[in-house]
Amino acid sequence: MTSETEAPTIPLLTPYKMGNFNLSHRVVLAPLTRQRSYNNVPQPHAILYYSQRTSKGGLMISEATGVSDTAQGYQDTPGIWTKEQVEAWKLIVDAVHAKGGIFLCQIWHVGRVSKAEFQPNGQAPISSTDNPLEPRLKSNGIDLAEFTPPRRLRTDEIPSIVNDFRLAARNAIEAGFDGVEIHGAHGYLVDQFLKDQVNDRTDKYGGSLENRCRFALEIVEAVANEIGAERVGIRFSPFANYADCGDSNPKELGLYLANALNKYGILYCHMVEPRITAVEKNVECPHSLVPMRKAFNGIFLVAGGYDREDGNKAIVEDRADLVVYGRLFLANPDLPKRFKLNAPLNKYNRDTFYTSDPIVGYTDYPFLETQAS
Ligand SMILES: Cc1cc2nc3c(=O)[nH]c(=O)nc-3n(C[C@H](O)[C@H](O)[C@H](O)COP(=O)(O)O)c2cc1C
Repeated sequence: MTSETEAPTIPLLTPYKMGNFNLSHRVVLAPLTRQRSYNNVPQPHAILYYSQRTSKGGLMISEATGVSDTAQGYQDTPGIWTKEQVEAWKLIVDAVHAKGGIFLCQIWHVGRVSKAEFQPNGQAPISSTDNPLEPRLKSNGIDLAEFTPPRRLRTDEIPSIVNDFRLAARNAIEAGFDGVEIHGAHGYLVDQFLKDQVNDRTDKYGGSLENRCRFALEIVEAVANEIGAERVGIRFSPFANYADCGDSNPKELGLYLANALNKYGILYCHMVEPRITAVEKNVECPHSLVPMRKAFNGIFLVAGGYDREDGNKAIVEDRADLVVYGRLFLANPDLPKRFKLNAPLNKYNRDTFYTSDPIVGYTDYPFLETQAS
């Protein structure tokens, strides 16, 4: 292992000007749900978790954060629709800023990936459809996740959901975040509109590609108008089929979105690699994000299955401007430094990804200097 000063510069560790932000490197913390925000309120232990992963000039995206009281589908995920939540986030954001980090809030609505117990007054979750999700095994491979059949949103209700994203973005700025990432991926509400295997609507939000993408683009427009396009990113996973949310022509969908986004001049477009088709599964596949990268006239982020070598390659080959790391960053709070030194990596423990302890599997992954050499 070389010392930090001797280490040669690798592409991932070159600076990058992302809109108004001067990034010192291109290794981005992925949005990672951790289920430790009891009663949907971010907790003080998240101050340590996020500041451990902060580097001066490094970009981080928060865990998915609910836009309203209908947005939740899991135990103890954070929200940003109440004053209490905004105040709690402020402490976390301040700690990140104190170390020179750039921090975006991922704003989220789960749609039908929910059940009545997470909903106000035990009501049905909302979606583009009223087709339910089948029960499935949870990530521990033992417990069964069950879902309450959703209620299809009426056409005249959709503007109020768009408005929830707008208000959440405003709250994120109030909490001090540098901007937001709209969660348009992984089978959640926005994706439930995008994908033709779920969206069975016959109104102006269903049918053609233009109609299925309308909800996502209305959110982009509303959020950009509220906080400025230069503070808005969006994440899509056209190729994924999480939560039974697949599309018959993901390449066409991804290209349509990339082209349509050009109109809004937003900060970035973030896409998940086709090799990640379901949670934590890497498959070999012939598809690529390069056509979307080329179609989008702005900053392009990629995620999904990247390591040091592959991330460097993506930068050198101009397939991305920034590379987003999930599991490796979760387990290696000093990931950019480890990449710089080509140091060994801690292994992630998936058994503690979604447990609720404020320390174990959360803030107890060791830093380089605390490990025996
Ligand atoms: C524990 C865990 C939580 C996740 N939570 C989110 C989330 O809140 N929002 C999101 O868009 N993706 C989420 N993802 C997906 C990651 O952001 C990332 O795309 C995925 O892990 C693949 O990247 P990786 O191979 O670098 O881990 C999560 C993944 C994991 C493992």
